[in-house]
Amino acid sequence: MTTQIKSIEEYKEHYQRSIENPEKYWEEQARHFYWYEPFERVCEWNFTEPSVKWFLGGKTNITVNCIDRHLATKANQKAIIWEANMPDEEVVSLTYQELHDEVCKCANGLKEIGVQKGDRVVFYMPMVPELAIGVLACARIGAVHSVVFAGFSAQALADRVDDAQANVIICSDFNNRGMKCIPVKQVVDDAMDISCNSVKNVIVYRNTGEEINWSDDTDIDWADLMEKQEPICEPEIMDSEDLLFILYTSGSTGKPKGVVHTVGGYMVYTCYSFKNVFQYKEGDVYWCTADIGWITGHSYIVYGPLLAGATTMMYEGVPTCPDAGRFWAICEKHRVNQFYTAPTAIRALMAQGNEWPGKYDLSSLKVLGSVGEPINEEAWHWYDQYIGKGKAPIVDTWWQTETGGIMLSPLPGITDTKPTYASYPLPGIQPVLVDNEGNLKEGNNVEGLLCIKHPWPSMIRTTYGDHERCKSVYFSLFKNMYFTGDGARRDDQGRIRVIGRVDDVINVSGHRMGTAEVENAINEHPNVIESAVVGYPHDIKGQGIYAFVITQDKELDLEFKDEICAVVRKEIGPIAKPDKIQFTSGLPKTRSGKIMRRILRKIACNEMDQLGDISTLLNPDIVKELIQNRNK
Ligand code: PRX
Repeated sequence: MTTQIKSIEEYKEHYQRSIENPEKYWEEQARHFYWYEPFERVCEWNFTEPSVKWFLGGKTNITVNCIDRHLATKANQKAIIWEANMPDEEVVSLTYQELHDEVCKCANGLKEIGVQKGDRVVFYMPMVPELAIGVLACARIGAVHSVVFAGFSAQALADRVDDAQANVIICSDFNNRGMKCIPVKQVVDDAMDISCNSVKNVIVYRNTGEEINWSDDTDIDWADLMEKQEPICEPEIMDSEDLLFILYTSGSTGKPKGVVHTVGGYMVYTCYSFKNVFQYKEGDVYWCTADIGWITGHSYIVYGPLLAGATTMMYEGVPTCPDAGRFWAICEKHRVNQFYTAPTAIRALMAQGNEWPGKYDLSSLKVLGSVGEPINEEAWHWYDQYIGKGKAPIVDTWWQTETGGIMLSPLPGITDTKPTYASYPLPGIQPVLVDNEGNLKEGNNVEGLLCIKHPWPSMIRTTYGDHERCKSVYFSLFKNMYFTGDGARRDDQGRIRVIGRVDDVINVSGHRMGTAEVENAINEHPNVIESAVVGYPHDIKGQGIYAFVITQDKELDLEFKDEICAVVRKEIGPIAKPDKIQFTSGLPKTRSGKIMRRILRKIACNEMDQLGDISTLLNPDIVKELIQNRNK
């Protein structure tokens, strides 16, 4: 399904064709899928409104392409292999036939409780096969899934449920992560107490079977619901542009926004990019360590691999449990061929010592992937040397929740690789660098803001319930371009290196976080008057969270800092907890009252020689105090 590029000549030829005639190129790719009714037009777009439509008039169902289509040849091939939290627990695998049956049962179960096409279903679950089954079951019946990472707090979950106006939440009782057992259903109960008025039912998958609170009015046991269902469910016939899912992600202002992806374009592009970036071959075992709560899990654990008929692995636990060799033990045990992880995990494992990977047979690895944040040179070389033994090309893949699929990446064994460079655009992707005014920065050896010129099939369609926001964030700054929010440089060979965000978004352990969100959370503390949050370089996490806080009537001690962290945990979740807190009597502001984050960033990063001109500040004296009390 879809083309697999096999040589540098083919890449160049495909790229050229995809740019000269994008519609023809994507028509060819889309033809490989099953459509109930063929599409009448390939693409209609206008970046001003914005309005982007792909494969117009086409009718399909993504699960038919993920599952049913493979049954003739792959019914007994493993679709999903699940590795549990602890190494001595049993491996669960599902063949394509078994996956089909489970997805159909779940789809019928959802229908039985009244879920219909277009309804929103929120998932708040650990990495268990039932999460993939549930997501696909939604797609089967045309319900819109919105997976919320199970590390978010009750408040953050409630915010997302409310925004999506979801009818159903699907969760587990508990979540096993390393040595911890996290009470998931309790968080859902708390979210329901906060708001979630649209929710009629909570389906609970008994993961550990431990005692939980139960409400007969709303709660339904997953096993009870599934038990009585038929393993056949006619797929809902979906229009190409019907909603497939909403995934919330952070921006520079306000609450997280619901990025909307639709069926047809997302299907074509995730399959295409998966096959090409990972060079997946029949019989390979592919493992992406991401969580399905993020876009990487959606596109490259569930949809991309299944569309391509691959065997995709899911892992419930953490990289360091029971020890720092776990990832490598899993690679050896399942003879993993393509391994895809985040730089933060590589750095954390690298810090545990080179002996860990040395204990395992990693000879099956053919391709190593990196995603989510810039990979530093040291981590790149370690990954290459200790994991790939110099023989498995590293694909540093740059993309975003909004792009739906990988945009920039080397093609392993086909294009060259260079540490820290995501390198080359996939066919159909037209990246450009611009200056602050939107002027193109052409030629090589230049730096600029990364934008994309032409639409691609899996791009964001809207932000749920607020199209204006989609327009203003991505399409208003520069005319006729999608603005990524990232800064990048192009080297002398035309390879692109993505440097990082140029807006008020930080990337902590590969998790995207809006500084405004963290500030709003900190400000919930009754003794906090104002706060400002910036990122600073962190050895393992990539970026750490540095908070400057103005307070009143309280002793500035460790206990207060703990309270602030607790508020952030409650409002967002542990991933947003500040690494450093500095109490201050003021923040540097412009005469119009805007916080000068640039100065705070320099102080947090200890780059005092780069503070620039501070004389125009409303309160230049505060800078001295901030420097003096800097939290080292
Ligand atoms: O800043 C870029 C960074 O992650 C952002 C997107 O985050 P999210 O939507 O959560 O998606 C992450 C997984 C696709 C981007 O704007 N980013 C992602 N991949 C890379 C990267 N930065 C540098 N190199 C990468 N390979």
